[in-house]
Amino acid sequence: MELQVNLVGKKNLSREIYGQIRNAIGNGRLRPGDRVPASRELAQSLKVSRMTVTVAYERLMGEGYLVSRIGAGTFVSTGVAVESRKPRRQRVESLRTRAVWDSIALPNAFAEPAQFDFRSGLPDATLFPHKVWRQLMARNMRSESVSSGVYGHPAGLTGLREAIAQHIGVSRAVQASPDDVTITSGAQQALDIVVRGLLEPRQEVAMEDPGYTPPRLLFKSLGMRVHGITVDAEGMVVDALPDNARLVYVTPSHQYPLGITMSLRRRLRLLEWADRHNAAIIEDDYDSEFRFEERPIEPLQTLDTSGRVIYVGSFSKTLLPTLRLGFVVTPNSCTPAVQKAKYVTDWHTSMLLQATLTSFINEGGFARHLRKMNRVYRERHELVKHILKKDFAEHLEVIPSVAGLHVAAVARSASSEKISHLVRNGADVGVAVQDLSKFSASPAARRGLILGYGTIATAHIREGLNRLLRCFQR
Ligand SMILES: Cc1ncc(COP(=O)(O)O)c(C=O)c1O
Repeated sequence: MELQVNLVGKKNLSREIYGQIRNAIGNGRLRPGDRVPASRELAQSLKVSRMTVTVAYERLMGEGYLVSRIGAGTFVSTGVAVESRKPRRQRVESLRTRAVWDSIALPNAFAEPAQFDFRSGLPDATLFPHKVWRQLMARNMRSESVSSGVYGHPAGLTGLREAIAQHIGVSRAVQASPDDVTITSGAQQALDIVVRGLLEPRQEVAMEDPGYTPPRLLFKSLGMRVHGITVDAEGMVVDALPDNARLVYVTPSHQYPLGITMSLRRRLRLLEWADRHNAAIIEDDYDSEFRFEERPIEPLQTLDTSGRVIYVGSFSKTLLPTLRLGFVVTPNSCTPAVQKAKYVTDWHTSMLLQATLTSFINEGGFARHLRKMNRVYRERHELVKHILKKDFAEHLEVIPSVAGLHVAAVARSASSEKISHLVRNGADVGVAVQDLSKFSASPAARRGLILGYGTIATAHIREGLNRLLRCFQR
């Protein structure tokens, strides 16, 4: 083992070596039975004479701290008394963190899964092709990009950027050159590097309210001023945007959390607003691969004619959120700054995962998985909507939605206290649902529930919703 002895500026070197090894034994850094370096080795590494080390070792042996076993080496004695290793007491007030972190809590998404898990934003991990993915990982471990020991380009693997540009071109009509695709650790990091690339601290950012909480916290933590903009049946209310917003973050395909699709008219209005106000738009297309209608409305990125839209995608719903894989397509004026932001934040996303995903897409595994999951989620989407409309009609009004992994329903009359109660009662009977008002920073939050169907097996949906209904009826 590497033994840390520091002799810089010290006079009596044998005594220092003796003292530091004795302390290491006393406080448990060296444990009974641990081998210490041979005196010759330690002398060489400390650049002192062997005699200096031998004197220290002999004293430690004489006092019973070390024992020497002929032919095997020198060890910490097994009978030596060791203090229990308490962490050193920190002075609580010595370091202060930024005030913004006091207002941000860690998510409880790590909590145990419920028996009937209707939490939103989670895909069905049991249907993920683990075996194929494992084989591709093993194969890609051998590839040059993964095993060369050299850092990669912050933008990501060229092959993956090409595969993504091709995929979103076909499936979403997004116009992307591979040069403007940057691979990220999920959509969340895409937002981080876009803001770092485009905005100065204390500039104004607008986003939907209710909206997706992690970006709101991210923007705040980066020192931005965040405005929540109301959402109606056509999507974000563009007329409510403040004139000084420099960036607008939206989820037009499947508004999170209400599930509304932004109308074409509203999309054009948002683009025209951004043009007039010289603002950027981030279009977060996080779960639109799962669509249950015939003709989707074109993404903002496709409708944009003046290079203002930044398109963000994620593999958290299509594959697994634990992979932390996503991407951003930037107008080419922004690409260098965003890629430099990626470089200074974490250099690049894991090459092994990027290479594996490239093979998965290019060999047809991704398209196959999407087709399968589309069928599964479509069935769950229909079932949840059907049961909510039929059995919960008295309590909830389902918000129309045609994509994604969750639906939202607003309460007809239940108070916010009743909704919080219901969420707690649901948890007591094994049903996890989310309170819609928790996604709003506004006091006039809509009351209701969000029901995800990504992770719950189709066969469990009816029983889960029956249990939830009994909570309403109690
Ligand atoms: C609106 C929205 N964007 C993006 C994501 C995915 O984020 P990430 O790719 O960082 O996992 C989610 C996940 O729930 C989401 O709801």
